[in-house]
Amino acid sequence: MSELDQACESFRKLLEEQLARVEHMSNEKVDFSKKETVTIGLIDGDGIGPLIMAQAVRVLETLLADEIRQRTVVLKKIEGLTLENRLTLGKAVPDDVLAAIRTCDVLLKGPTTTPKGGKLESANVTLRRELDLYANVRPVTLPEQGIDWMFYRENTEGEYVLGSRGIELPGMAVDFKVTTDAGTRRIAKAAFDYARQNGKTRVSIVTKANIMKKTDGKFSAICHEVAAEYPEITADEWYIDIMAANLVNESIRSQFQVVLLPNLYGDIITDEAAQIQGGVGTAGSANIGDRFAMFEAIHGSAPRLLEEGLGDYANPASILKAEAMLLRHICRTEAAEKLEQALADCPVVVTGDRSGATGQAFTDALMELIGR
Ligand code: IPM
Ligand code: MG
Repeated sequence: MSELDQACESFRKLLEEQLARVEHMSNEKVDFSKKETVTIGLIDGDGIGPLIMAQAVRVLETLLADEIRQRTVVLKKIEGLTLENRLTLGKAVPDDVLAAIRTCDVLLKGPTTTPKGGKLESANVTLRRELDLYANVRPVTLPEQGIDWMFYRENTEGEYVLGSRGIELPGMAVDFKVTTDAGTRRIAKAAFDYARQNGKTRVSIVTKANIMKKTDGKFSAICHEVAAEYPEITADEWYIDIMAANLVNESIRSQFQVVLLPNLYGDIITDEAAQIQGGVGTAGSANIGDRFAMFEAIHGSAPRLLEEGLGDYANPASILKAEAMLLRHICRTEAAEKLEQALADCPVVVTGDRSGATGQAFTDALMELIGR
């Protein structure tokens, strides 16, 4: 078979797989207010992961102490999602780790390292796909500038779903971007539902539909279709390039409320937004599906900090924000509010170097505020 024929054959398989994926999308949501036991899986991750997770777990054990005693909440440590283990087994998420994860309802996860190049897929991307965590929810606030943004990033499709499965011909490489009706509809609904339930009046859709006519064209069309079911909410649309500019335009940026984006644009724009808030170390991130959900820091595993002996100065703020989102997700609203309030009030500043506080000192101060 010629290389071209082989490529066409692979493409056919990819299309068939993607059609099958859509067939298997479920939409049965778990109701955590009615669930007898909620199991929270704890995954350390790589680099600074174990250090910031240790602080996050201390806080969780304090906030949920009664429920942990009564076993209505179970904390379950999941081992083995380390870079060494993943490289040895050649698996982005080893099978036994994935099986353990599936016994949990929600996960709190430290950052995992993805080696550049090579074959190993990002553990994050694998987990988002395997657990069908289709909504990446990232809040960014800067109250003193009137900024209160909520990003709803599609988390399972776009450039990511076949990101490790592109095709190479001599002198040429091709990657694929996949956008489905069902995949777009569910993220759009999640964003508009959030807006409706939280008194937001505007959802801004981000695409590059002038260029990516099929995929972004579809994303745009379906989002507007969904928007029609929410007449009280204004839906506007921006191309990704001007949206990137809007976020640094101080005269208009505070008017944005909920932002709805396909996967890759969401990846980029949420880093930009987090930087505006004070750095990627300050933002939390939720990956939500109908059955499972995973909460994590928005930043990476920061091996540089460890190499320079600065691990103790790693900032747990981002993972703690994710923890607050986890508590809200499982309907532990009071605990979530306590943590959010303490995070907002905590006077201790971690800078990631010796000029700031250690993660431990920050968390001590936080726990004191929680205990008030
Ligand atoms: C994020 C990260 C991930 C992504 C990486 C770690 C695969 O940048 O959560 O935004 O690209 O989605
Ligand atoms: Mg990112």
